[in-house]
Amino acid sequence: MIHENYTVNEKGHLCVGGADCVLLAEKYGTPLYVLDEDMIRQRCRIYKAALKEAFGETALPFFASKSLSFLGIYRIIAEEGLGTDIVSPGELYTAKKAGFDMSKSCFHGNNKTDADIEFGVKSGVGYFVVDCEEELYALNDICGRLKKKQKILLRLTPGIDPHTFAAVRTGKVDSKFGSPIATGAAEKMLKKALALGNIKLCGYHCHIGSQIFECEPFCRAARIMASFSLDMKNKYGYEAEIINLGGGFGVRYTEADPEIDVFAYTKQIGDTLKEFCRENGMKVPTVFMEPGRGIVGAAGVTLYTVGSKKAIPRFRTYISIDGGMPDNPRYALYKSKYTALIANKADRACDCKYTVGGRCCESGDLIGEGMTMQNAERGDILAVLVTGAYNYSMASNYNRIPRPPIVLVSGGTDKLAVKRESYADLIKNEV
Ligand code: LLP
Repeated sequence: MIHENYTVNEKGHLCVGGADCVLLAEKYGTPLYVLDEDMIRQRCRIYKAALKEAFGETALPFFASKSLSFLGIYRIIAEEGLGTDIVSPGELYTAKKAGFDMSKSCFHGNNKTDADIEFGVKSGVGYFVVDCEEELYALNDICGRLKKKQKILLRLTPGIDPHTFAAVRTGKVDSKFGSPIATGAAEKMLKKALALGNIKLCGYHCHIGSQIFECEPFCRAARIMASFSLDMKNKYGYEAEIINLGGGFGVRYTEADPEIDVFAYTKQIGDTLKEFCRENGMKVPTVFMEPGRGIVGAAGVTLYTVGSKKAIPRFRTYISIDGGMPDNPRYALYKSKYTALIANKADRACDCKYTVGGRCCESGDLIGEGMTMQNAERGDILAVLVTGAYNYSMASNYNRIPRPPIVLVSGGTDKLAVKRESYADLIKNEV
């Protein structure tokens, strides 16, 4: 199967991390998010070791928690010794409640309010990733009032346009994020940052996009960032201590996607950066990266129950499931492709093709079209693979559908990490 944590047991049932998906569906009901905790930990260790090998001992991955945010994940990430990337006060609040050491966090966001900034400073966020001039001044003022000095990185756009879908492309010049190097805006930001008393500039950040399979754009970004740092060193005597290269390593969703070798990719990026520094007499900076999908993507499976099957002659056959765009909006938003199978018939041939529809009152509510799998009938358990990232974190209550629970599996045993929302939860804020 597309990842080694998916196996089939003697009953012909799909297992994830050794746990039988059919039994999990019986025990917890569907729809259900299942996360393989052992795999998440293994991915953390791979990223941590790969970064240290490529960039040196000070390098650190910061888990991009926009991909998956709930108390339990911050505890796992903390135990594995990673930092975290947070992008909203809600993520910050969750990480704090989980007991996360906020000095190991990067606080993102292209429009932090004064309240967000104050919350971040008071919470002891490690690094604010400052997006714009307004934030720089607001942060400086708030720090002055709180009598604190805040470490920051400047978010820069290196002008790279990797081949990926437009909605998740963030590093090119035309972007709502950061300051472009090419237009001179980044240099302007740097001059202003150096002049402010309540902040400590530690370096630069960039994020070139998501679900990228080539290594070359990352190498190019590293070179552009280092070259900007050199330029600023020559002009203003300021050399970045930290360069944060963001996230974006692609994950295998279907057989058509390659598997990224994290060690080989980071080595190549590291070699590029070190060579540039050597040639230009610069100190190699501390490198951070922010993998999200690469850590949790393949560890997740969503389980659904099949309700109906409709063959439309000369067109297609639909199957309907008890979830859909509220728990996984990625096909509706990006036409993202997934691999699916019938978990209780996982040992049988995949000789059927279905369009998988959810149960929302909207024809765009699909999980995929032309998905190849075993013959599906009412009551079967449909498993959609590689849903660990940007599924739970993007879930909504559209059509007043409660969000599914999250179950963590480890060593073949399961535990509930997030309860299923109830109907009462849906109205709890309504007066
Ligand atoms: N760092 C920054 C600053 C980011 O903006 C992102 C993702 C990441 C790290 C993590 O990227 P990853 O390693 O997960 O690719 N909802 C979309 C993805 C949006 C990604 C936004 N930023 C999706 O479902 O594909």
